Amino acid sequence: MARRAPEGPFDLASLVPGSGPFELEIGFGRGRFLMERTAAAPDSRVVGIEIKAKWAHLVEERRIRLGMDRVVALAGDAREILPRIEPASQLQRAFIHFPDPWWKQRHSKRRVVDADVLDQLARLLVPGGELFVQTDVLHRFDDMRAQIVEHAAFEIVPCDANPYGARSNREVRADEDGLPVHRILAHRRPSSA
Ligand SMILES: C[S@@+](CC[C@H](N)C(=O)[O-])C[C@H]1O[C@@H](n2cnc3c(N)ncnc32)[C@H](O)[C@@H]1O
Repeated sequence: MARRAPEGPFDLASLVPGSGPFELEIGFGRGRFLMERTAAAPDSRVVGIEIKAKWAHLVEERRIRLGMDRVVALAGDAREILPRIEPASQLQRAFIHFPDPWWKQRHSKRRVVDADVLDQLARLLVPGGELFVQTDVLHRFDDMRAQIVEHAAFEIVPCDANPYGARSNREVRADEDGLPVHRILAHRRPSSA
């Protein structure tokens, strides 16, 4: 059985106790980045959310088998889970690698990068915290970048390469196929309140 997020509001520290900044990956798929990033960031606590329960289960099983206790792989819809994470301002980094493009307009509501998810990430990231999004679909890159530029909480910063010492499964495939990868790195602005 895949591991689910706790019912109701919950603290990330209830999933990964201890100390160290939290990092979140939405839609980790087969989990390559989640595992490599946990190894590359030995001080961080890493939480992944994946809507496909089968993949979430496989990744959670793998990390338990490998004795990796600073990472958890949750099954569920990030759009439903993010609003239940409390308190605010506890994420150092959030990653969304190669989100499903949902080409057809009638499916566009399923896209994970939308105003609600950006509002939740703005709530959860610490001031100066990082939001990293990458895709090989140019028009989705343009859309997502425009949404992030328009969001008052985020400031885009230059980013040519993935700086995190870890690659997602799709990223490895894009590299092997010589496909261009378009990347967005944004910093959470300090709250004006
Ligand atoms: C194209 S795949 C990319 C997988 C992985 N990030 C990579 O780069 O290899 C997009 C992933 O996002 C997941 N996903 C889509 N919508 C989601 C949501 N609302 N919450 C969590 N995961 C989601 C899909 O199940 C899929 O695994």
